[in-house]
Formats: sequence, structure tokens, C-alpha cells
Amino acid sequence: MQHLCTIDDLGRDQLHTLIEAAKAINPRINQNTLAGKSIALCFFEPSTRTRLSFELAAKRLGAHVLNLGDNTSLSKGETIIDTCQNIAAMGVDAIVVRHKENGMAQRIADAMPHTVHIVNGGDGTHAHPSQALLDMLTIAKHTSEYSKLKIAIVGDLKHSRVARSQIAALQMLGVRSIHLVAPTALQLDICGSATLRLTTDLREGLTDADVVITLRTQAERFGQEKCPSHDTYHNAYGITEANLAWAKPNAILMHPGPIIRGLEINDAAADGPQSVILEQVTNGVAVRMAIFASLLSNPILP
Ligand code: CP
Repeated sequence: MQHLCTIDDLGRDQLHTLIEAAKAINPRINQNTLAGKSIALCFFEPSTRTRLSFELAAKRLGAHVLNLGDNTSLSKGETIIDTCQNIAAMGVDAIVVRHKENGMAQRIADAMPHTVHIVNGGDGTHAHPSQALLDMLTIAKHTSEYSKLKIAIVGDLKHSRVARSQIAALQMLGVRSIHLVAPTALQLDICGSATLRLTTDLREGLTDADVVITLRTQAERFGQEKCPSHDTYHNAYGITEANLAWAKPNAILMHPGPIIRGLEINDAAADGPQSVILEQVTNGVAVRMAIFASLLSNPILP
């Protein structure tokens, strides 16, 4: 693997290998496996979890971390590609990028020398592969056989790079079914199948689910379409203890964060016994350590 821009950059075997590698990592223990390596974090969109957990993962492995702040020469007219090529020229080994444009991580990857790895920290509505990987790790820790799992993904699917990467990973792992639950205006523009069901009906989507993933309503990505009113949306699609009871009794409740309490999820569900939302965050450090180790441990030949 040269870059991680989408889940498709991994094959099925590599996806399993990364999940198993992350399972074996204690994210609280320092290692020195990437001593001497340098990793730059270039986040051109806000982030709490992704940026900090990539930083912590790199430091846990002994790498140097450079953080590109907000006060950069982009304001003088430099392009993002030129910025990243200049950072690469300093001798960094990997750059983690977040940007609002779909496909930006791949565009940067295509402009990099072969010695530099690009990791997509989220691009537009397109992909967020490290989030999907930490979500798969969380599911793997709570379940045994992927082929028996019913997964419900609920909420603003249309604007969700997380959902797109989750669906790619879940299909690669061979889960029994994925139910995409959203109002028509926020549904993905894709065709359903026997294993990929699209519905507006929350009860249908949640019934007997093993895993319920709810998504943030991403107001900043709404274009012409109208953002649903807070109460209307919460009443129809907000996850509560009451509607979570439609899922299996031992179902887990996930959310990539940041959570908007009272909109896509209420307090009782977010903080309840089925919620693994903070466990996802912990797993994020282990997954990102596994990603860096996989990308950077092998010497790159000239
Ligand atoms: N899940 C996620 O991408 O969170 P941040 O935007 O805080 O990084």
C-alpha cells in the first residue's frame, strides 16, 4: 500500500490484516518502530478526533509530527498541491490530509514523489477510510461472524464520507445486510440490492440490527436542499432508547462523532449501555498506529 485514499486502496486481505493488527495494539503503550520518521498533518477543515488521534498514533510509534496550522502561505495564493509538494521536499515520510473537496487526497497523492505516503483524513463527501477502519475494528471486537450481521446506518447519508467508506468496508468484509435509513432528501443516490437496502422507515431499518450506526446531520455540506427542521428530524430519525429497542438486545450503537445531542441521537442513547461511541475513539488511535506501521515500516526502494 503506497497511499490510503479510499477503502478500495486496500484489498480484502489487507483490510482483515489491518483490523487484526489494530486489535493486537494497545494504544496507550509507546513503541519506537517509526523512530526517525516524520509525519505531517495537513488539515484544511476542522477536526478533533481524526487530527489528534493521527498525531497521538504517530507519537506512540516514535515518529516526529509536524502540524500545518491555519496560518499558512495558502493565504498568499499557493495551491494545496504546491504546499504538499513543499512539505514532501522537506523529507517527510507521510502526509495526512483533510480537505473539503472530493478527491483531493488522491490528487495530492498523484503529485507526490514515491517516497511519500498520503493518508486521507476525510475529503468532502467522498471518503474517510481511517474512520471506516476504526469502525470495522469496533464491530469486530463486539461480534464474531461478519456474514451474520445486519448493519443499520441512519441519518444524513447523502453528505457522509464516513458512510461511503463504511459501506465499502462492510461489503468487503461480507456482512449479511446493510440497511441505509434516511429521509429521501438525505439518502444516497445508489441502487439497492439483496444485501444493500435503502429505506425511509427507521423501524424497518433498525429491526433485529446487530449494529446501529447513526450519522451527524452535516449542515455545512447542505447546498440547494433544505436542512430538515430540528424537531421533525429528531422525531423521525433521532436514535433514542425507545427505538434502539427495535434492534437486537445486544446491538451496539455507534457514531463517528462529533455527535449533535438532541438531533440525530438523544442523551439516553448516546450515554447508554449499548453506546460504543467513545470506544470507537479509543480504537481510532490503534487503527491509525496500524495504518502508519503498515505504510512506513518497510523501507521504500529508490
Ligand atoms: N469522526 C471525525 O472525523 O471526527 P473529526 O471531524 O472530529 O475528526
